[in-house]
Amino acid sequence: VRIPWSLAQAEKGGYKHFMIKEIYEQPRAVSDTISGNMAWFKGDVPLEGIDPTSFERIQIVACGTSFHAGLIAKFFFENFSQILTEVDYASEYRYRNPVVNGKTLVIAITQSGETADTLAAMRLARKKGAKLLAVCNVIGSTATREADTVIYTYAGPEISVASTKAFTTQLTALYMLSLWLGRENGVLKEEEVNARFSQLMEVPSKIEYFLGREKKEGNVKNIALEFYRSKDALYLGRHVNYPIALEGALKLKEISYIHAEGYPSGEMKHGPIALIDESVPVIFIATKGSVYEKVVSNMEEVKARKGKIIALLNPSSPEVERISDFKIEVPEVDEFLSPIVNVVPLQLFAYYIADFLGYDVDQPRNLAKSVTVE
Ligand code: G6P
Repeated sequence: VRIPWSLAQAEKGGYKHFMIKEIYEQPRAVSDTISGNMAWFKGDVPLEGIDPTSFERIQIVACGTSFHAGLIAKFFFENFSQILTEVDYASEYRYRNPVVNGKTLVIAITQSGETADTLAAMRLARKKGAKLLAVCNVIGSTATREADTVIYTYAGPEISVASTKAFTTQLTALYMLSLWLGRENGVLKEEEVNARFSQLMEVPSKIEYFLGREKKEGNVKNIALEFYRSKDALYLGRHVNYPIALEGALKLKEISYIHAEGYPSGEMKHGPIALIDESVPVIFIATKGSVYEKVVSNMEEVKARKGKIIALLNPSSPEVERISDFKIEVPEVDEFLSPIVNVVPLQLFAYYIADFLGYDVDQPRNLAKSVTVE
């Protein structure tokens, strides 16, 4: 009997690669992460080992895509919990003699729970007396065994080397943690926690809506077809979407081997603007929020230099529509939650470019799913 597909293909559930399957799994992964963390969030069970009123600062340690989740979480913790937050590459933290004490909460963000640098950073923090919390996707991994407290993401197995659903679920869990800390330490009123939580609950359906439309219309795929021969790409965003610019650029580098840089758009005039000409696609994250007008004026500067603008925008954004050459419309959500939605088209953009170039999307050259050596 000839079996027409391999086991690996069967596990891809009809998708061409794990990466695209995992991108499409995000509505479910995010919603599972919300429900999986409800018990401590609602206060039904304590978040073991964590006294929310005892921290003067938070230090986040992580690598790669998980580091980008940390950069966004800094906005959550500072805005919703009013706790000073630092974010470090684990590989830097472990060698920088950080100031840590018993009033420091060190949060390690790691999909695998096995990244060597992240584990070393955790061990250093522990030696210095910090409380250790791991945000992790793998039950029983080293990070979960070494931390005082674990918050799980419920992404399910992530096979693709380029991380997608682990990232959006990390953001979900960290958002919940920041609201929880804010409520417990008296910064946020119950109503605000509830309002923000309701907005989070809507995120899975917003991602679902975007993906459903993309599946029908192939808009991101068509834009990828325009640009897959590019040599460079620039990603620009501000505020909570600055790390999304970094993550978009990382996705493209990882799997398509195109040189890409992410930058905060306000810094563009201090360097990257020199790179812009008509051959460079500039991807702007220009969804609505406190810096919308600022981003629009950065777009105008790119336009004046003939850069090709691909804009990520919300419906009814005439200012952005007018300037951009290509548009990717995403549903509007609260600004602080927008990274969870906005990253999805950037994952797809990188995916389609790598696929058009014929690369092995799930197993990019020189990269490993989890880096267990220094
Ligand atoms: C590797 C993977 C990345 C991942 C990073 C951190 O570089 O290729 O996708 O973001 O490790 O992994 P972790 O498991 O600690 O989140």
